[in-house]
Amino acid sequence: MLRRPRDPSALGSVGLDEGMPVIARFEELDWQPTPMGDLTLRRRSEPAVGAEVYEVKLGDEYLMSSLFTVAEIALADLGLAAATGDELNVLVGGLGLGYTAVAALRDRRVTALTVIDRLDAVIGWHERILLPVSSELVGDPRTSLVSDDFFERMRRPPTGAHYDAILLDVDHSPRHQLDPSHADLYRAPGLRALDRHLTGGGVFALWSDDPPDPEFMTELAAVFDDATAHVVDFDNPVTGGTSSNTVYVASSRRT
Ligand SMILES: C[S@@+](CC[C@H](N)C(=O)[O-])C[C@H]1O[C@@H](n2cnc3c(N)ncnc32)[C@H](O)[C@@H]1O
Repeated sequence: MLRRPRDPSALGSVGLDEGMPVIARFEELDWQPTPMGDLTLRRRSEPAVGAEVYEVKLGDEYLMSSLFTVAEIALADLGLAAATGDELNVLVGGLGLGYTAVAALRDRRVTALTVIDRLDAVIGWHERILLPVSSELVGDPRTSLVSDDFFERMRRPPTGAHYDAILLDVDHSPRHQLDPSHADLYRAPGLRALDRHLTGGGVFALWSDDPPDPEFMTELAAVFDDATAHVVDFDNPVTGGTSSNTVYVASSRRT
């Protein structure tokens, strides 16, 4: 896990050193209990980049770090590159630190951006402009932040407009979910339910922490056209090496 580092040695320290107080490098900006576990937002200095980083922890899992945003941005860029049309209605599943959503807004063809997140606290962080891209996100009249369960919504038939692109980044990967209730989306019937929310030829794009998964590709290709797994490499300032995520992109075969 790189975007979501599980190695506590990457996370700095606070406390006493031989009885002498050590300058606190963490600042806890928010802590809230949620149905998925305790949610913590904190800011700390990161010597590897000489800058402050923002981190989100949910239960025992590191969910997101502002140190690793290349593939989150690529999710929007690769997904929207496959979308056609001059006026795009886009849905993002999973707000997090907001990098995917803001990258989508930078595509001027996007006329409306809905971002669904299950945790009200995450939406509240942006509404309170606590995060680096919050101002750009909530200050844009095209943005709507919606509190809902993305997976539950995809199971229901669409009630309003269809989307030209759905960009999803909630789980670690198609086989490692934050919550077991998300698992059905990554099988053909769940993908077919999601497909009903797309316009004809609309794009589904998905972020994953794992390498391209042949089993998931089979499910994706059973429902969509042009299913592609893009490997996105990026510099990892903590390890000093290169890390990779995967962005899946596929197009609705409905016309
Ligand atoms: C890894 S973060 C998304 C990161 C985002 N791509 C970015 O650029 O910052 C995952 C988000 O999914 C949200 N989430 C978890 N379960 C969800 C669900 N069932 N429906 C919608 N959002 C959910 C979490 O609250 C979290 O904000």
